[in-house]
Amino acid sequence: MSNAKTLPRLLVLGTGGTIAGIAGDALRHEYRPGQIGIDEWLEDAAHLGMQAELTGKQIANLGSEDIGPDVWRALHSAISDAMADDAVDGVVITHGTDTAEETAFLLDLTLPATKPVVMVGAMRPADAVGSDGMRNFVNAVRVAGDPEASGRGVLVVMGDRVLAARDARKVRTRGTDDAFRGFPRGSVAVVTPAALDWFGKPWRDNTSARYAFPAEFPRVPVLYATGGLETWTAERLLGDDIRGLVVAGVGEGNLPDPVRQLLVERAQAGLAVVRASRVDEGLVDREPEDDANRFIAARALNPQKARILLMVLLANGKGAPDAIQSAFDSP
Ligand code: SIN
Repeated sequence: MSNAKTLPRLLVLGTGGTIAGIAGDALRHEYRPGQIGIDEWLEDAAHLGMQAELTGKQIANLGSEDIGPDVWRALHSAISDAMADDAVDGVVITHGTDTAEETAFLLDLTLPATKPVVMVGAMRPADAVGSDGMRNFVNAVRVAGDPEASGRGVLVVMGDRVLAARDARKVRTRGTDDAFRGFPRGSVAVVTPAALDWFGKPWRDNTSARYAFPAEFPRVPVLYATGGLETWTAERLLGDDIRGLVVAGVGEGNLPDPVRQLLVERAQAGLAVVRASRVDEGLVDREPEDDANRFIAARALNPQKARILLMVLLANGKGAPDAIQSAFDSP
């Protein structure tokens, strides 16, 4: 990392989202995400006098609902190169907020934690009144340029908060206040364009990557439970081509009995079944029947993050319920 006299050299990877979005009219609600290229964005940012040298690379320019294995792989490869490059001190990724938590968590699981990697987005497009994009970006640059940010895995900066990837969740569909929260751990730091305060020490003792990046992503659908959910809904998801299933269960990962029975049959036949909760801040602990059922409890991971972890585990050859459970116990 550069010393105090040298500016941190940061690679900025653009993927699109609202932070790169344009409405064309400051008073319009509708807008198109992924319109501004990363070079244009960095040109706009240049006059702000940030204490960092920024180099841009466009990975994609998409709404984040379209971000999946191809973009994940391109990001992983670009960041791995940056980790190995002495001329790069840290990485900032601009990303749509809708699925930022999924991409951030996947990268957190599959990258070393030796240099800062910070994901940032915006709730309002660049030309909206009160757009939050540039402030969030300046905050993200401050975090990524701080040597103290390494050893913490991938971080997500939204508003003036810094969240760990494993905890970051989008909790509001509109507005910039508290759009993201950390669960079960809150912010790990607060940041403004002028200051950064960490609340604790880095937690990744072993900074090497925890899992290999999947060569292929196994099929793992999410079953969203409702009161009285009928078995046909589950049957449609339970094709022979799936390797695992995440349940967005009611309450603490519960399901109506007929659906549960169906999943017990498949779990006992070898399908990895994870019980998560559709409740926003839902902790799902193991229950006594999970042993016999061969179910896994998602603990603090929401269904979309549970899916990411399960895909990574299966791709890394970890298909036994106890091995999967221990990964969910300390993600
Ligand atoms: C997106 O996720 O690409 C659109 C929404 C956003 O960035 O806030």
